[in-house]
Amino acid sequence: MKAIAVHPGTPDSIHLREIEKPKVTDVADGRGVLVKVLRVGVDGTDKEINAAEYGAAPEGDDYLVTGHESIGQVVEVGPNVPTTIRPGTIVVSSVRRPGSSIYGKIGLQDFTTDDVYYERGINLLHGYLTEYYVEDAQYVFPLPAALQEVGVLLEPTTVAEKGINHAYEIQRRLKVWEPQHACVLGSGTVGLLTALVARLRGLELTVFSLPQKPYRNAELVEQLGGVYFSSQDATLAEVSAERGPFDVILDATGFSPIVWEAAEVLGKNGVLVLASITGGERTATINSDKINQGFVLGNKVMVGTVNASPNDFRTGVDDLIKAEALFPGWLEQLLTTPIDGLESHDEMIRALTEDHEAIKVYVEIAQADEPASAPELAATAS
Ligand code: BGC
Ligand code: ZN
Repeated sequence: MKAIAVHPGTPDSIHLREIEKPKVTDVADGRGVLVKVLRVGVDGTDKEINAAEYGAAPEGDDYLVTGHESIGQVVEVGPNVPTTIRPGTIVVSSVRRPGSSIYGKIGLQDFTTDDVYYERGINLLHGYLTEYYVEDAQYVFPLPAALQEVGVLLEPTTVAEKGINHAYEIQRRLKVWEPQHACVLGSGTVGLLTALVARLRGLELTVFSLPQKPYRNAELVEQLGGVYFSSQDATLAEVSAERGPFDVILDATGFSPIVWEAAEVLGKNGVLVLASITGGERTATINSDKINQGFVLGNKVMVGTVNASPNDFRTGVDDLIKAEALFPGWLEQLLTTPIDGLESHDEMIRALTEDHEAIKVYVEIAQADEPASAPELAATAS
């Protein structure tokens, strides 16, 4: 079967190759799920992997099958797979797998302290840009058939979910936390999905990002009832004076100096969540005393977040369902740039690196077969 792969360490090595089709028995203890891949989204991580700035091949291979944002349909299951996952079920599999740290042992490998981590399509494990994959049922999350169109957005949504879920988890320190104002920095896919998740938690939404209006992503923020500001028209301090003080600020810009401006305007008892992976060497001059004093006198928190836990996948599925009910058609507008088939890997990389209007670039790999109907799923859900 076909797959899109790179030679990690060699820039621009993306290519199509033949790999062996996996079998459900490749996973031990009858827990294997064989999945036909329908769509795979790509993001900045894939860009960095093809630029040889990130990523590693599995041991014994000189190539890495890329792709970590997938949606697929179950073809076959082992005898010990829970009945919530049956042939026909629409599924998304998570990205990170346990290493040797205690957090992997308790199912929270997103909190690993290992230096080496295992992520499908990114580091040491092959990904989903292929025709079929097999996975242990514990890493496979079922979606209602109604999410078949937009479910490819689940993985990036889980990144947003983890950020927001942890903001609430951390704020349990306050006994009473009634956040009102959220500010999302950045309006790429993760910024927009974070804006959505914040809105679904009932927060007043402000989004601060570089591009000026008219801008499709700003319209998407407004469709959620949020207010969009361009950093070319206002400073974050001005935005905060108008819309804040912010109880929670989430950064998904990829521009690290903004973090220090955010730290400065964060409201008392507030939480600042950092989700940008910034591989560069940028430095910044910051108002160190002011930020420090604000954090001390205001009991503020700054926290980093990466990847997602099983709970974030579950709340992610719930929020995608809610989004379809409350903002019908909104998620679909994020799917701006379909790429036809695995053969079009060059076009995929071009869209990813050069099309600045694109929100989500994704590869269409196969059509779903008639999925199991909702009543059937309900009857088999345990
Ligand atoms: C992925 C995460 C992953 C992170 C670090 C992101 O692009 O969506 O699942 O943990 O990269 O490799
Ligand atoms: Zn990603």
